Formats: sequence, C-alpha cells, structure tokens
Amino acid sequence: MKGTLTLFLFASLCLSLSAQTIAGPGQIIPVPARVVEGIGVCDALAEPEVRIDEKAFRKAAGKLVPDTPEAYLLEITTKGIKILAPGEEGAFYARRSLEQMRAGVDALQCCTIVDYPRYVYRGFMYDVSRNFRSVEFLEKQMDVMASVKMNRLHIHLTDGAGWRLQIDAFPRLTSFAAWRTADKYYDWHDRSYVDVSIPGHPAAYGGYYTKDDIRRLLAHAHERYIEIIPEIEMPSHSDEVTAAYPELSCTGEKSNDLCLGNPATMSFFKRVLDEVIELFPSEYIHIGGDEANKENWKHCPKCQALMEKEGLADADALQAWFVGEIGAYLNSRGRKMTGWDDLLDGEVPEGATVMAWWNAEAGTKAVRRGHEVIMAPAERCYIQRLPDAPRVCRSAEGIYLPTDSVYVFEPVQKDMTPAQAALIKGVSACMWTEGVDSEGFAEMLMYPRLLAMAEVGWSLPANKDLKGFRERATQYCAKLRERGYETFRLEDEYGQRKAYFQPLEHLARGKKVTYNIPVSERYPAEGPSTLTDGKQGGWSYLPGSGRWQGFLSDIDVVIDLEEVREIHYVGATFMHFYPHEVCAPSRVEVSFSDDGQHFTRAAAIDSDVPEKDTSTLFFLYGAPVSGKARYVRFQAFQGSRPWLFTDEIIVN
Ligand code: ACM
Ligand code: ZN
Repeated sequence: MKGTLTLFLFASLCLSLSAQTIAGPGQIIPVPARVVEGIGVCDALAEPEVRIDEKAFRKAAGKLVPDTPEAYLLEITTKGIKILAPGEEGAFYARRSLEQMRAGVDALQCCTIVDYPRYVYRGFMYDVSRNFRSVEFLEKQMDVMASVKMNRLHIHLTDGAGWRLQIDAFPRLTSFAAWRTADKYYDWHDRSYVDVSIPGHPAAYGGYYTKDDIRRLLAHAHERYIEIIPEIEMPSHSDEVTAAYPELSCTGEKSNDLCLGNPATMSFFKRVLDEVIELFPSEYIHIGGDEANKENWKHCPKCQALMEKEGLADADALQAWFVGEIGAYLNSRGRKMTGWDDLLDGEVPEGATVMAWWNAEAGTKAVRRGHEVIMAPAERCYIQRLPDAPRVCRSAEGIYLPTDSVYVFEPVQKDMTPAQAALIKGVSACMWTEGVDSEGFAEMLMYPRLLAMAEVGWSLPANKDLKGFRERATQYCAKLRERGYETFRLEDEYGQRKAYFQPLEHLARGKKVTYNIPVSERYPAEGPSTLTDGKQGGWSYLPGSGRWQGFLSDIDVVIDLEEVREIHYVGATFMHFYPHEVCAPSRVEVSFSDDGQHFTRAAAIDSDVPEKDTSTLFFLYGAPVSGKARYVRFQAFQGSRPWLFTDEIIVN
C-alpha cells in the first residue's frame, strides 16, 4: 500500500513539474557577463533578498569584475533568490534581469549571474523637434531602456522644425517657434511657424515641454537610473530660433545658422543654458554643433569683425571659438559639454566628449586627439533607417539597417590603440524623426534594434551571439507587444534584396563602360566596373553597400560589347527615395552603334514616378529591343529631384 502511495505522489510531482513553465538566464537582454547554471528550480515569484555592500560584492564576485556601481551578483537557488551589489544601480539591474526571466513563467532555473557593463554610457537619442512626442511616450520608452540596462536618454530638443523646451527668458521660442503649419514634416513646404499667442491662429502642429513636464520626465528617469541629456542645437540647425528672433541671424532673416559675430547670440545661449542647467541635473549638456552651413559667416560684417578681433583664420575656427566659449561656460557651471563630431573641424575644447555620427572613423579621429567619445555612427546606430525590405516595412529613410547590422557593431576600431579604445565611453542609438510621424511607427523602428544596441553597450564582445540574440529579441518583442508596444517582427524578416545575392549573367557583364557624364565622386560604388559587374544593389544606396552608383546629373554611358551582338533587351533598376532627393528618371533612352560614333535610338521609356511618395521604391526601366550592335548607349534623364541611382545595366 505504501509503495503505491509513493508512486502516486511521484507521478503527481512529475505531472506538476512538466506543467510548470521554467525560464533561465539564457533569455536575458543584454547577455550577462558570466552565468553558471545550477541544478533545480526556484519559485519565480520568490522575493529576492537584496544586499548592497561593496566589500562583500568584491569578495563574492572576484577580482576580474571592474569597479562599477552597476555590477551585480544574482544567485537563484532552490532555497531562494539573492542579490548582492556594490551600489543601488547594480541592485536595480539585478532586478531587471530577474524581471525578464520571470515574465510569464512559474519557476526559475537555478543559476548564478555575475554581471557588469562594458560601457558607462548606453544611450538612446530621440529627436522631438521634427516630430514632437508626448511625455507619456518618452516615459514608455524609458521603461524598456531601463529593462535592458540603458542609462542615457538624449533628447534632441531644438531644431529647425520646432523648439521644444519652455525657456522663460525667450517666450517666442515656444509661443511661436514650437508650432508649424502642417503635421507631416515633409508636407511642411513653406517652413513657416504659427504664433499661437495670437488668438484665432490656424491649426498648428507641434508642442513643447513645460518645465513641469521635464520635471516629470526627470523623475521617471531618475527612478530608472537613466540620465536625461538635453541637446540644445547651436550654432546651426537653428531656423526656428532665427524665425522667432531674426536679429540673431547674420542676415536679419530666418536662417539655418546663427550670427556668431553678434554678442546677442552668445548671450542668448548663455541665458538658455542657465535655464537648462537649472532644470536638468545631467553630467553632460549636448550642444549639437553639426552641419553648420557657415556661408553667411563669410560675408557678415559682424562675424568678420569677430574673426579679425580673435585672430580666427576661417569659418571652422569661428565655430570652434564659439564652442570653446560655450564649453567654458558649461564647465564653470559644473557641467561637461558633448557635441556631434563636426566639432572636429576645429579645435574641440579640452574635456569635451565627442559624439561620433558621420562614421566610426570620426570616433577614431576624436580619440586620437585625446577626446572621450560616444560612438553613434549612422551606419550602425541610426535606427530610423529601414529595418527590413521596403515592401515589408515602411521606412523613415531609404537606407537599410537590419537588426543584425546594429547587433554586430563593434565600437572599438581596428586602428585604435588600447589607450585610445579606453576613451570610448559608450554607444548611442539615434532616432531622427523627419519621417517618423507616429508613436507606433517610432516603436516599430526602435524594437528590436534598440535592444541590439543595449547589448552592444552592455555585453562583453565574447558573450555576444547573433543567433541567440535574435531568439531572445523575438521573445522580448512578443512580450512588448502584449504590453502595448508596436515592434518589428524579426521572425517575419524578409531580409536583404534577393537580387543582391544573385549574380546576373548578361551580354554586358564584364564589358567596359565609358562615361559621357561622370558619376558623382560621392557615390562611385566600385568604380567604372560597377554598372556591368553582374552585381545588383541592396536596399541601401549608401557607399558601404558598394553597388549603387549615384549621379547628380543625367546618366549617359556607353558599353562596348567588344563585338557586334544580337540584342533583345536593355534595362536597369533605379532607386527612389524622395525625401533624400533620390528619384527615378523621367525618361530612359537606349541607342545602338557599330562604330561607337553614330548611334541610332533603339528604345525609349517615359515614366511618371510617384515623386511625393516617401517610401523607398525600386523601378525597373527595361525595354524589349530588336537589333544588332557592338556599342550600347544608355541615357537616363533626371526627374524633378537631382539624384539618380542605378546598380547594373543589363543587356540581353
Ligand atoms: C546628425 O545626424 N546631423 C547628427
Ligand atoms: Zn554674422
């Protein structure tokens, strides 16, 4: 009888165990530094015993763990869960790991996790100027950031499309320059603003954060160990400032650049920064500094007089002088300056941190000059770019940046010395929002690529594993969707353009191309062989993909087939992305010749391209022809936008 009872008890235990859902450390994003799996399981809801004790942590975690308050030790045994951390942050992150394991399961696999970040700066930049977003939206994203141990939210608060922060000293920044005349950025043709302080103004799109809004955001961030870094753009990307206060531009009219020779400009920014510093407790204040046009400064008497007085050789030196003054001001107020890598065009103030965006080489340049760097190169970190094939996934930019490419980003460049690499303080994903016109679309672009960037910033390179990440991110995104986020679905990813992988055999392959009009120096791809190398481009026209040639003109090339051939077809694909001025041609002409001198038209194709469509599109201009020729002339004529991009001229 006893034996039967034991058997019964054992059977029901097995049943209840098999019905249990168990999760382990293998699903944590970002992947922890060290994991030792144990035997048995622990109740997922067990309350952890938390101890913050630096000495005890050091002793338990071992010497190899770097000195960081964000480190933690998480021990899950059949007896319960213990957290030991050197600081509050570490205990917070231990709970985040636990929370990720616990979601939706009954039991946790026993294990010991020792974890710490690779970089101190694990950031995300969001542009609220081009498309304003609510406090709630930013709070919602910070919840995910904290869950994946990201600790810096950099808010791009000011740009030509709208000033987004209450500044008491300059009320027109928000009563006027925060409101525009069309909700969609790309429909905002006249680039004028709306004065909402005048009763009866027309419908205005925009908004700004009051100081109370910011205090609320800061409180939300503080509870999650996130520092909010405000960016106040200067001295360029400032159309909205000069629209509100035209006396601050060189011409007295709205302009991209501010007048640096006018002392009122310096005084304006110091007063703005006074209010910014009072509001935001962040270590860093970001001053922008990118893409100054600098043209007006060369003709402006005030700017010229200042250059003369300060002995400044050129416009770059003028910007550097201005940045130096602002940097010193921030330092005098106990803050550090950071700005985009365009600052490297001139002298960068000592102690300033450079945010490398143009490319990773800009980061190398900055560390060689002794500056600390945040790596945010567009080619890996600009997540408004296409996460998948354009037909599958709407894009905010006609440039392809799949999740895998973000994930495999390595911030340390091969030509950096260890001392230079040590100047890399971290990484940042960036979301520029010209084409990001809704919250759901923003989230679809962010997830899972923000998760990939979290892992780049936190995890040790040796622990990274793309396949494992894709599985973890797929699960994580499913949970995000349950919580009301939109995400891209990695499991449905289409991937790179199929043609990219399929070499084409055709009559012109490997044949010489002569350019009657040269290709643009900016987009030569692989040089003259590109258009007949049998290789087609991917979803991006950027040089890195190596396959799309760009022309800032009509295209006019001649292919020498080396002997007279019978020809049935000539065609080429063109990329189209209207917001970047990349447009399929209005007309294509094909002509044949036997001597390379006298050509006869063989085909012409006229096209109505959907100019205003802001999606990334590909148009094949192909024509059946019938004839014999040695030389094939291919001409493509610009539409209303200047750039033409094509990858291969196919002759059959
Ligand atoms: C930038 O993308 N202009 C920083
Ligand atoms: Zn000026």
